[in-house]
Amino acid sequence: MIDRAKLARQYSAEQQHFLDTHPRSRDLYQRAHGSLFEGVPMHWMKKWAGGFPVFVESAQGAHLTDVDGLQYLDLCLGDTGAMTGHAPPDTLEAINRQAARGITTMLPTEDSLWVAEELGRRFGLPHWQFALTATDANRFAIRLARMITGRPKILVFNWCYHGTVDETLVILQDGIPRMRPGNIGPAVDPVETTRVIEFNDLAALEEALSHRDVACVLAEPVMTNIGIIQPDPGFHEALSALAARTGTLVIIDETHTMCAGPGGCTATMNLQPDFVTVGKAIGAGVPGAAYGFSAKVAKALESRIPVSDCDTGGIGGTLAGNSLSLAAMRATLEKVLTRESYQRTIPLADRFRAGVESVIAEHELPWIVKQLGCRAEYWFRPEPPRNGGEAAAAVDVELDRYMHLAALNRGILLTPFHNMALIAPSVTRQDIDRHTTVFQESVEALG
Ligand SMILES: Cc1ncc(COP(=O)(O)O)c(C=O)c1O
Repeated sequence: MIDRAKLARQYSAEQQHFLDTHPRSRDLYQRAHGSLFEGVPMHWMKKWAGGFPVFVESAQGAHLTDVDGLQYLDLCLGDTGAMTGHAPPDTLEAINRQAARGITTMLPTEDSLWVAEELGRRFGLPHWQFALTATDANRFAIRLARMITGRPKILVFNWCYHGTVDETLVILQDGIPRMRPGNIGPAVDPVETTRVIEFNDLAALEEALSHRDVACVLAEPVMTNIGIIQPDPGFHEALSALAARTGTLVIIDETHTMCAGPGGCTATMNLQPDFVTVGKAIGAGVPGAAYGFSAKVAKALESRIPVSDCDTGGIGGTLAGNSLSLAAMRATLEKVLTRESYQRTIPLADRFRAGVESVIAEHELPWIVKQLGCRAEYWFRPEPPRNGGEAAAAVDVELDRYMHLAALNRGILLTPFHNMALIAPSVTRQDIDRHTTVFQESVEALG
């Protein structure tokens, strides 16, 4: 049981320490209110614990230095965008080389073929297109699915996150679909565009698809954005069979689950979706994303996108597929996010999990650690949740913020939106053990 009064006192003490030790970040944050809305370049940066975000001086590998000269072990890694580690030398070299040869031309480079061929090898789909963000990759895949099937709706799982895609910002409240709180200015209430059910609920899936108005199911193969939630054995096979029976397409979003291996969970779980979408880390943080699709989808699209109108179809972006993104993706896939890299980072994530589990056991806390490849996180409930609703019910905002700030004050960055750690290739065993010590100290301060 957490003593809430003590938690509040400890949080205040951590906040005071944060204020005292980050004068330059605080000054910049105050100055930023003169030009940046609410003092941050993106409004979600307000979400960092401590009252204001640290301003970055530089980031290299798994380490980051802020403008106050403080150094951090970065286990947030830009919420996956920098899963490769910051500025990996091979990608950096390709970026420099390509930037000097032209960043964007509206014409293909040979790198685009190399990247598409490599993504095909990794994810088993033959046809690829590019976007600048995973959000766009998802939006474009959804549009294609609606065009092919002629159906209006999509289906997502409760508490999923697939970027700022209108149709996905919907949750279940007491079993009833509702627009997700905080959704800004939707064109239509996503309850009208979307069927939302719990992950791992095959009966609900069967019912939802039986209406035959769902163009596609958009899913992470393992949920990651409300904590890691594994599919039940046989779940994906059943989903795939139900989708085939009802003429529904399946989009698997591998943007985060590429932490499981070079071909994400599509490869590790032997999935055969109609589309795969992926973004964030594939260019080591240089904006770039991709969506791949099957030969069947390609056939269905044939001659449906006339040349006369293909630049105004709601799919595209002037900078999508630009030479710089593709050079960064090629170098990252060829030399950074390699099988060898996962062979290094996954055992380190095992060590992270074992370390945190040992502290949890020692203090008899009703918490668990979950892991997917080089991603691991702790969650404040005793059993793994089976779906988003169960996971969301265990979110403890006060405890989250305290744990994040305590870690930050001791030189460790965790993802601000959940207690998630990603392991970059340059992380060492000592770094992992340092996190275990910090976790232990943070827990003991509440005892
Ligand atoms: C699974 C998943 N898909 C897509 C996105 C959207 O990525 P981006 O914000 O880079 O467009 C996210 C973002 O967190 C994500 O977690």
